[in-house]
Amino acid sequence: MIDRRLSIAPMMDHTDKHFRYLMRLLTKHSVLYTEMITTGALIHGNHKQFLDFNPEEHPIAIQLGGNSPKDLTKCAQMAENEGFDEVNLNIGCPSNRVQNGGFGAYLMAKKELVAECINSISNNIKIPVSIKTRIGIDNHDSFEFLEEFINVVSKAGCETFIIHARKAILQGLSPKENRKIPPLNYKRVYKIKENFPHLNIIINGGFTKLDQIKSQLKYVDGVMIGRAAYQNPFLLAKIDNLIFNSNETNETRRNILIKYKNYAEQQMRKGVNLRNLTRHLIGLYQGEPGARKYRQMLSGVVPKNNFHFFDEIIKTII
Ligand SMILES: Cc1cc2nc3c(=O)[nH]c(=O)nc-3n(C[C@H](O)[C@H](O)[C@H](O)COP(=O)(O)O)c2cc1C
Repeated sequence: MIDRRLSIAPMMDHTDKHFRYLMRLLTKHSVLYTEMITTGALIHGNHKQFLDFNPEEHPIAIQLGGNSPKDLTKCAQMAENEGFDEVNLNIGCPSNRVQNGGFGAYLMAKKELVAECINSISNNIKIPVSIKTRIGIDNHDSFEFLEEFINVVSKAGCETFIIHARKAILQGLSPKENRKIPPLNYKRVYKIKENFPHLNIIINGGFTKLDQIKSQLKYVDGVMIGRAAYQNPFLLAKIDNLIFNSNETNETRRNILIKYKNYAEQQMRKGVNLRNLTRHLIGLYQGEPGARKYRQMLSGVVPKNNFHFFDEIIKTII
């Protein structure tokens, strides 16, 4: 069974396998999510690349975007065969592209279709299916609306709901604004847990401090962290100890960097561009002396394939 007390959010263009590897150096126990992968991309694109992950990343969930029960089921089966631990369906993305495709947050208003998708997926794979959603969309923002959505979809076979505690506004706000402007409403998520005690309810949105994260576990089953994990990854260095009572990852920033360097060298030997590996490290020294110099080195010209680059950085930050 997956321990869901802590998870790292799906983030397009951010949570690729290299970032997830970095996360795993900091936290051994949290659940890691891929970026959203659309069913079209997985079925017609380079599926090997989309489904690729490092063995260290378990427990790992794939996030799918789509609205066809048949295609979602096919993609979920592909993910299960590749060894993913969970399939997550995106019912929270408000971008125009996703809306035009008829999936993401738009699907909150189509609970019967979501139930059909979940029913089909969960009847055809053995790994768990989860949903990541919002507390509402547009004018559908009452508690009763969310409650009914969860009621219908859970009966179709979904036991885990990750709820971003702000509604999505589908017209007039960019995805970035949609992560800031509608106010957070944590109480609504706590109330869902009260009304559905048998479901796993994971809260998401706005968590940046360790004590704040831990205190959520009084009300819900888990916490998902997005931007704070990307912008300040070292925040997570103490989290396994705090939440899982484990000392496995009580590392210094420098040790994390050395471990990531070893990984990066292996990846470069496989042809991965150095920049795709270093870009995830920019926040590692946030708030530390020398952080500016460190960031400048990482965001300056990074040669495609320089095996000494990390040594230079490590020398600079000591
Ligand atoms: C750059 C970026 C990309 C995102 N991409 C996705 C995505 O692919 N799927 C998804 O469900 N949410 C996505 N999100 C939303 C996050 O998963 C999360 O719900 C949101 O950032 C709120 O959590 P936070 O306040 O901890 O960042 C993205 C967020 C950011 C900042």
